[in-house]
Amino acid sequence: MVNLQAVFAILMLPFRWPDSLIPPTTRKSFAIIGGGSSGLAALEVLRELQDASNPWDIVLLEQRRDVGGIWLPDHDKPDPPALPETPLYPLLHTNTPVPSMTYPGFPFPPGTPLYPTHEHIYAYHRRYAEHFDLTPHIQFNHTVDAARWIGDAEDGHWDLLVSTESGQTTRAADHLIVATGNNHYPHIPVWKGQDIWLARDARREIVHASYYSAPEKYTNRTVVVVGGRASALDIVTQVSVHAARTFLSSRSPVSWEPEGPITYKGDIANFTEHAIWFLDGTSVDADVVILGTGYENLFPFLEAGGMIRTDPSARRAGDDDNILLHTNTRYVFPLHEHILTLASGLPVTALAFIGLPVFVANCPSDRIQALYAVHAMANSSLLPSRDALLSELDERENWIRAQGEDPYRVGHRQLKPGGHDYQDGLWRYLQTHGAVPDDGEPYVEAWRRNMTEIGAALKRGWQRIERLGRQREWLAGVETEEEWAALQERIARWQMRWEEGRGIFIAKEQPVFP
Ligand SMILES: Cc1cc2nc3c(=O)[nH]c(=O)nc-3n(C[C@H](O)[C@H](O)[C@H](O)COP(=O)(O)OP(=O)(O)OC[C@H]3O[C@@H](n4cnc5c(N)ncnc54)[C@H](O)[C@@H]3O)c2cc1C
Ligand SMILES: *[C@@H]1O[C@H](CO)[C@@H](O)[C@H](O)[C@H]1NC(C)=O
Ligand SMILES: *[C@@H]1O[C@H](CO)[C@@H](O)[C@H](O)[C@H]1NC(C)=O
Ligand SMILES: *[C@@H]1O[C@H](CO)[C@@H](O)[C@H](O)[C@H]1NC(C)=O
Ligand SMILES: *[C@@H]1O[C@H](CO)[C@@H](O)[C@H](O)[C@H]1NC(C)=O
Ligand SMILES: *[C@@H]1O[C@H](CO)[C@@H](O)[C@H](O)[C@H]1NC(C)=O
Repeated sequence: MVNLQAVFAILMLPFRWPDSLIPPTTRKSFAIIGGGSSGLAALEVLRELQDASNPWDIVLLEQRRDVGGIWLPDHDKPDPPALPETPLYPLLHTNTPVPSMTYPGFPFPPGTPLYPTHEHIYAYHRRYAEHFDLTPHIQFNHTVDAARWIGDAEDGHWDLLVSTESGQTTRAADHLIVATGNNHYPHIPVWKGQDIWLARDARREIVHASYYSAPEKYTNRTVVVVGGRASALDIVTQVSVHAARTFLSSRSPVSWEPEGPITYKGDIANFTEHAIWFLDGTSVDADVVILGTGYENLFPFLEAGGMIRTDPSARRAGDDDNILLHTNTRYVFPLHEHILTLASGLPVTALAFIGLPVFVANCPSDRIQALYAVHAMANSSLLPSRDALLSELDERENWIRAQGEDPYRVGHRQLKPGGHDYQDGLWRYLQTHGAVPDDGEPYVEAWRRNMTEIGAALKRGWQRIERLGRQREWLAGVETEEEWAALQERIARWQMRWEEGRGIFIAKEQPVFP
């Protein structure tokens, strides 16, 4: 059983700030933490925007052996409470079409299946790093243990405490970009009676989806998968092939109905010695519970440096409370546009988060966030005062309340599909403030916007193409970004026409993005 204390006990090994710290260099310096989609986007943007005749000092610190973030496999997942390096499992395919997952202008290679295995996404990130010559800036096997701001609201620098194979070192930077991902710290609900249930039989287990690797492990067992989103639905489909009986327990209606011999249940109510009870009063005698219950936004290295406070019940309050950042595990605040920190103890452009938005295609979102952050870091006059930005944040949170939602639960989820308006808004700001040329074009290309409409039909269309064995025929000659976009459109229309012709009406839409 993983609990937060155990997670932190493992992550927050004791450390000591050394007496003498290396002062920042005279060149403007940037440190990025994390070499997944979002960290690579930030690194590429920094390299692109620096003045070649007076380059910035740029480093990306990545704790693992290579780029790719969650897409870099971990072949030897640990048992709890140690955390897996990635939730990736061998049978993982993307649940979104890859042409839409790209960094703008950098398509997947010809012949890539539309919903490929994870190896293709890892290879894409490697290729991106090579193409833009990013690796010279990356230090692998470097874990940031703590980050603290030495200075005040006007001026200062970051001290980073970094673990390497040869021990702990420090590093200074003017600007810190946090790109550590949304999918590392499992969210683990706890039910009444579960300890009694577990103690009754040593074969019983409750395990988070991030530890999942192969469905064969559940052969002949009775499994309850908890959750209603991408991970839970994919895992329940795989497990149902091998398990004796498979149940899916989901609080709200599932976003799509997985295939397979699966019995649907509502929320778990409690556990007793012999059974798992659901809210509808039914029970099952299962022996494995897999929690596809999502992840928490935690930043142990910022917490260790005293920069953020983790508190599930935290709310934005008076100014005194805004000295620090907070995370309620879903929502990091106060942030400007989910990116720049509005905590009053440091400059607005000292710290940026890239990749917090969820239910969006990450690479395009990461890239516009990085452009926005780095332009602001390069020229802090680009943004109005912190007070003005805090008022804007109030307005945003009030707008969410007006939609009947709680901003502290919505967190970094976009209420409008795909986060496209958000991305266009960031781009528009850069255009109207002279940071990028204002040609009137939006950031999000029309074909990406169209995915909100056609994404579900596209997935069904590709599944039909696979059943017909006609993948190569459809993929032939598709190479440029425009050709990939046109292919997605063509397949979706082909599928819609086919469904119309047969009077097939699809009531439940599959999500375009996880
Ligand atoms: C199982 C699964 C399936 C998914 N499938 C899809 C999909 O089909 N389509 C889609 O669009 N999205 C999918 N996603 C979402 C996916 O997470 C994002 O698309 C994207 O890859 C996230 O990239 P990131 O760089 O923000 O984070 P990550 O990929 O998590 O990268 C963060 C990096 O930071 C490093 N790091 C963390 N802490 C430190 C530290 N203290 N010091 C040094 N390095 C550190 C980590 O090692 C990691 O390499 C999926 C997610 C999961 C979990
Ligand atoms: C990182 O560590 C791994 C072992 O975990 C090793 O194989 C690899 O060579 C190291 N990489 C670098 C760049 O030091
Ligand atoms: C699973 O059950 C079937 C039928 O009862 C049995 O033939 C098979 O050997 C079992 N497999 C395992 C791995 O226990
Ligand atoms: C467990 O939940 C069921 C269904 O809601 C309920 O009837 C029962 O009283 C609960 N048992 C305990 C011990 O809480
Ligand atoms: C910085 O941004 C401000 C506001 O947009 C602009 O007036 C100024 O020219 C910019 N400075 C530089 C050096 O680009
Ligand atoms: C987007 O969809 C509309 C119809 O819904 C279509 O006319 C248009 O061609 C599509 N645009 C692109 C770029 O695919």
